[in-house]
Amino acid sequence: MGEDSDSRARHVAIIMDGNGRWARQRGLPRAMGHRRGVEAVRNLVRSVKGLGIECLTLYAFSSENWKRPEDEVSDLMQLMRRFIRSDLPEFVANDVRLKIIGDYKALAPDIVEMLENALERTSKGSHVLAVALNYGSQQEIARAATAAAAAGEINAETIAAHLDTADLPPLDLLIRTSGEVRLSNFLLWQCAYAEMIFTEVLWPDFTPDHLRRALDQFSARERRYGGR
Ligand code: IPE
Ligand code: IPE
Ligand code: MG
Repeated sequence: MGEDSDSRARHVAIIMDGNGRWARQRGLPRAMGHRRGVEAVRNLVRSVKGLGIECLTLYAFSSENWKRPEDEVSDLMQLMRRFIRSDLPEFVANDVRLKIIGDYKALAPDIVEMLENALERTSKGSHVLAVALNYGSQQEIARAATAAAAAGEINAETIAAHLDTADLPPLDLLIRTSGEVRLSNFLLWQCAYAEMIFTEVLWPDFTPDHLRRALDQFSARERRYGGR
């Protein structure tokens, strides 16, 4: 089972959770967990082309994560700057097209500038890496509904057409690491018929092999979309 193209996932999204617990288990500062989390992202991005996924969407910073202590927020922003600077050439080399979902323009001006430069430099890539930054799904839906209303009609199609993900394939599979079983304001609309996998693995320990196994599980599932 799972070899025909219909059963293969085109769009996979991941709630990358558990960096803090990973660090705590080792008596390390949280910042170290986030740093190792970035390494897990790097390894995964390198594997995307080989796994044949069209789009990988990663939840990197939620609109609610601003509630964390200032030093943790600034650590995360600093990691973001470093990651873009160091990995952009690799994105280009690996045929990755960066996309940002969420209200990223509210981030620090230098980060916005780096992101926009990265979007431009990767615009020819064919494998989409969508990064959710300052992302909240309820806010995204409210923005999309407002835009749909302004364009004349609110219905499921017009709202979907104004979501940040409008140009991405439908979401096939959502994965959350670290054992939490909730969506935390991520892709609420897009999850309508997504398959879900919750794993105990903490994000810094998540490898391309874990993703490969999740994709195999996905391929073995029967999707019905309400039919029979
Ligand atoms: C996920 O790890 C990273 C972000 C939310 C930015 P956490 O920092 O939430 O790790 P836990 O949940 O405290 O273990
Ligand atoms: C969700 O994880 C956000 C990201 C992974 C970026 P959180 O750790 O912020 O979620 P809660 O607080 O456990 O719901
Ligand atoms: Mg968490």
